[in-house]
Amino acid sequence: MAQQRLDKIIASQGKYSRSDVRRLVRSGEITVNGKAVNDCGLKVDPEKDNIVVRGESFGYSKFVYIMLNKPQGVVSASRSPGEKTVVDLVPDELKRDGLFPAGRLDKDTTGFVLITDDGAFAHEILSPKKHVEKTYIAVLDRPIGESELEKFRSGVTLADGYECLPAQITLLSEDGLAVEIKLREGKYHQIKRMAAACGSHVNKLHRVSMGGLSLDGSLQEGECRLITAEELVKIKTG
Ligand code: URA
Repeated sequence: MAQQRLDKIIASQGKYSRSDVRRLVRSGEITVNGKAVNDCGLKVDPEKDNIVVRGESFGYSKFVYIMLNKPQGVVSASRSPGEKTVVDLVPDELKRDGLFPAGRLDKDTTGFVLITDDGAFAHEILSPKKHVEKTYIAVLDRPIGESELEKFRSGVTLADGYECLPAQITLLSEDGLAVEIKLREGKYHQIKRMAAACGSHVNKLHRVSMGGLSLDGSLQEGECRLITAEELVKIKTG
């Protein structure tokens, strides 16, 4: 791996900010290959150099996995000229080349977007064969009835003839407008098209979890944080 600034590498792993690194360098608490560092801009290769922070070997992860609480009006893409993308919302200390959203939410959908630079992981969690469940809260324009709930559960046929896999759906409000929907596939505009096939329009859509990992309730809209190794496992194990 190419050499990079020490403060950037350490901050990219989420535990310490760049200003923490400056402080730790001043107090002599960071060593590289056994020597105390006195310049936080020192160029190092995290895969080759032995970085020790406060006596602990610094575990560098080759790939990064970020949870974003996506606001409305932001495009699920790495770049889109003239529009704000989910990758634009990643703070500088977590930014690196090659970041992309693992799965798309529509521009007006809010909630959990996973941003990574690990193509194999993204492929794995998006593949319908792997059955990673995505959970959404939808607010509809008219109350959903028993026959529509049954359609969702047995597999909605979309207007273009595509037969969706059976979905789990639970009514969340007495007025019949808010529902929780769990999908194991991710076709374009899938929930909106499923609702349309049942005569409803989706007024609001929010993704609350991917597999067994829920969106962190402390993240405000537009905020990100790193996903830990334990949380990453939860996505796949559901
Ligand atoms: N289904 C949709 O219709 N839109 C999304 O953004 C996600 C799922």
